[in-house]
Amino acid sequence: MSPTAFTALLEAFSEPVLVVRDDGTVETANNAALDLFGKRILGAQLRALMRQPEVTAMLERMIAGDETGSAPYATSDSNNERSWKVTARRMDTRAFIVSLRDTSELEAAETQRRDFVANVSHELRSPLTVLAGFLETLQGAAAEDPQARAEFLAIMQAETERMTGLVADLLSLSRVEASARIRPRDPVAMDMVVNATLAALRPQIEQAGLKVTCDLPDPLPPVPGDYDQLVQVYHNLVENALKYGGDGDAIDITGVIVPRLPGFEGPALRISIRDHGEGVDPIHIPRLTERFYRVDRARSRESGGTGLGLAIVKHILGRHRGRLVIRSHPGEGSTFETILPLS
Ligand SMILES: Nc1ncnc2c1ncn2[C@@H]1O[C@H](COP(=O)(O)OP(=O)(O)O)[C@@H](O)[C@H]1O
Ligand SMILES: [Mg+2]
Repeated sequence: MSPTAFTALLEAFSEPVLVVRDDGTVETANNAALDLFGKRILGAQLRALMRQPEVTAMLERMIAGDETGSAPYATSDSNNERSWKVTARRMDTRAFIVSLRDTSELEAAETQRRDFVANVSHELRSPLTVLAGFLETLQGAAAEDPQARAEFLAIMQAETERMTGLVADLLSLSRVEASARIRPRDPVAMDMVVNATLAALRPQIEQAGLKVTCDLPDPLPPVPGDYDQLVQVYHNLVENALKYGGDGDAIDITGVIVPRLPGFEGPALRISIRDHGEGVDPIHIPRLTERFYRVDRARSRESGGTGLGLAIVKHILGRHRGRLVIRSHPGEGSTFETILPLS
């Protein structure tokens, strides 16, 4: 193979690839490797550049004549840490090839999956513990006490509803994730979405004794989207405003058409849901859309919350190529803004 063909071959790999001579010095490297290590690697000792015990040991074995080898490697610069899998393979009697595969995303996904399973198990375990406890009491001590029985059954019913809610939210999250790549395009009338949401929440609104005002632009252009999912978005946001903004005097829903916005190609519809409740400390804001993240876990549980509502909202808006913006200050209420592209 000609030297240019060999260079072209190395460049065909988007991940770092290096050719290392048998004395451990770097003979050639593709651009990805030069980006990672800098131009100084050419002619330098690779062991001196990748000073991590597992990598050095592997390189030494290759220099001593091993056919293949692999080792984990970690890099960190000012803003991110990455993990790599380094693989070596003998090329001929005088050189071997070292390549690096970025495994950071894989590892992050694996951690996320593990955390998710742990969270779900934990969320299911507490209502199950309550149910098991009351079942035992009902079979024993409380068997002949109608008043206690009625009380316990009510608690058991509430816990069962909580588990049902959790499973429903999990299913809807997985449905939204499964359809994440397909952008929905049916024309959706947003006034219908908001009206349907308010109609469904009427009992809670009356119970909270709150006034909900609604001011949408007229005429209102249709939004390309998925009607049911958009109802879910506003249902979650207005329900939160009722639950956590409940001490305030009103919830205001306002809409405006924004002709241009950074990150959007055309005009967008911004709908804000503002409550006058206790608000959230800004340090929590970036984490509110994480699955199971709750500022006050006990309080959210009491009101039947699963901690998945805003995660679902964010996913649905993402699927619509839209965005969620949260503004809040303790004592001043919160504003949840949805931004949806109109074309
Ligand atoms: N309007 C709001 N005012 C204050 N805090 C809120 C509001 N909406 C959401 N939050 C906070 O965000 C958390 C996550 O919300 P969400 O994902 O809907 O879960 P859930 O309502 O099931 O607890 C809530 O537990 C609450 O701490
Ligand atoms: Mg919620």
